[in-house]
Amino acid sequence: MPIKIHRWLLVCGVGALLPVSSVLADAPNAGESRGATLCTKIPVPCEAVIAHRGASFMAPESTAPAYRLARELGADYLELDLQRTKDGQLVAIHDNTLGRNTNVAEVFPARAEAPVSAFTLAELKQLDAGSWFNAAYPERARDAYAGLPILTLDEVIDIAEGGRHRPGLYIETKVPDQFPGIEQDLREALASRGWLGEPESPAASERDRVSVADGPARVMMQTFSRASLAALEEAMPEVPRVLLLWVGEGSIEPAPSQPQGDEESLADYYARQTVASPEAYGQWLDFAKAHGAIGIGPSTIQTEHDGAFSRQFSYMELAESWMVGMAHDDGLLVHPYTVDSPADFARYQQRGVDGFFTNRPAALLEFLGQTPADPQQLLDRLGY
Ligand code: G3P
Ligand code: CA
Repeated sequence: MPIKIHRWLLVCGVGALLPVSSVLADAPNAGESRGATLCTKIPVPCEAVIAHRGASFMAPESTAPAYRLARELGADYLELDLQRTKDGQLVAIHDNTLGRNTNVAEVFPARAEAPVSAFTLAELKQLDAGSWFNAAYPERARDAYAGLPILTLDEVIDIAEGGRHRPGLYIETKVPDQFPGIEQDLREALASRGWLGEPESPAASERDRVSVADGPARVMMQTFSRASLAALEEAMPEVPRVLLLWVGEGSIEPAPSQPQGDEESLADYYARQTVASPEAYGQWLDFAKAHGAIGIGPSTIQTEHDGAFSRQFSYMELAESWMVGMAHDDGLLVHPYTVDSPADFARYQQRGVDGFFTNRPAALLEFLGQTPADPQQLLDRLGY
C-alpha cells in the first residue's frame, strides 16, 4: 500500500468523521502524546505535506503553476497567505507590499510601496507576478511564467478542486491587524464554496489519491496573531487552527541578544535569537490551547543551504526536541516552517514533528518514501 494511502487512512481510521472539538476533548496525556499517536486523534494527515505558497521552489510563489504543480504532485495542502483588496476581495499573496515579486513599480510607480490593501482587485490583476522568478532563478525559469497574475482565494480553490488529487487549504491570515473582519469574510467565502460544514463524502472511500479536501480538516487556519487566532475561533470554531511561532516583539519573549551586525546575514542574526525561557515558549502553547488550536507552526533553522537550497527561509530554532515534546505533551501537533532539504527533513522528523511547510513538496514526498512525478515533466504537462 502506498504511503500516501497509509498516512490518510491513519487519520480516517480514528478521527476523520469526528468534530475537531470532540477529538480535542480526548487530547492525549504525556504518555501517549508522541508523533503518530497524536495525529491519529486529530483529523489531520500524519506527516502532512504542506506546499508553502504552492510548489514555490519550481514556480513563482502563490501563482497558478505553483499551486497546480503542488496538487499534481500529491501535496496534502496548498498553503496560502490571505489578504484583502481595497474593494474587499480575498487574494493569495505573501508580502504586504508588491515590490518583491511583481512589476508594481512599472505599472503603478506612484504606489510602488503601497500595501496590498491600497489596490483594487482589477489593479492587482494588471500586475505580472511571475517574471521576477525568471530573473531570480534562471535555472528554473519558464517563458510561461512571465505575466502570471495574482490569484484570488476563489481561484486557489478552483485549483484545489480541479484535479484528480483533492488537497486541502492551509490558510494564513497575513497582517490581520490591517484587515479587520477578514476572518468573517473568509468564513463566508469558504461557506459559499462548500468548504465549511460536514464533508459530503467520507475520506475513507478515497483510496488512490489525496483526499484531504473530503475530510474534516480540509481547511486549516494559521496565524502569527493571537488576536486573529481568537477571531478565527469565533468565526469558524469548527475549523482546525494552528498558531505560528516567532521570537521577538509581539511574539515569544526573546533572550537578550546583540543587534544584527553590519556584516551579519539576516539568517545568521535570526539563528542567534532564542526564547527567554521554556516558560516563555509555554505561554504561547497555553494561548494556542486556550483558543482551541490543534497545533503550532514553529520557525526553523535550515542547515543545508548550498547550491539549490537557499537560506531565505532560515529563521530561529523553535522546534528543538524539548519544544516539540512540550507541544505534544499539550496535545498540539507541530508543523514547522519552512523546510526544504532532506537533511533538514530528517533532523526534524527525528524530533517527532507532524509534517512540514515546504517549498519543495516533491522532495518531501520522496523523503517520505513516495515516488512523486518529476516536477519538470509535470510542469510541461500542465502547459507551462
Ligand atoms: O505559514 C507558515 C509560514 O508560511 C509562515 O511564514 O512568512 O512564509 O508566511 P511565511
Ligand atoms: Ca504563510
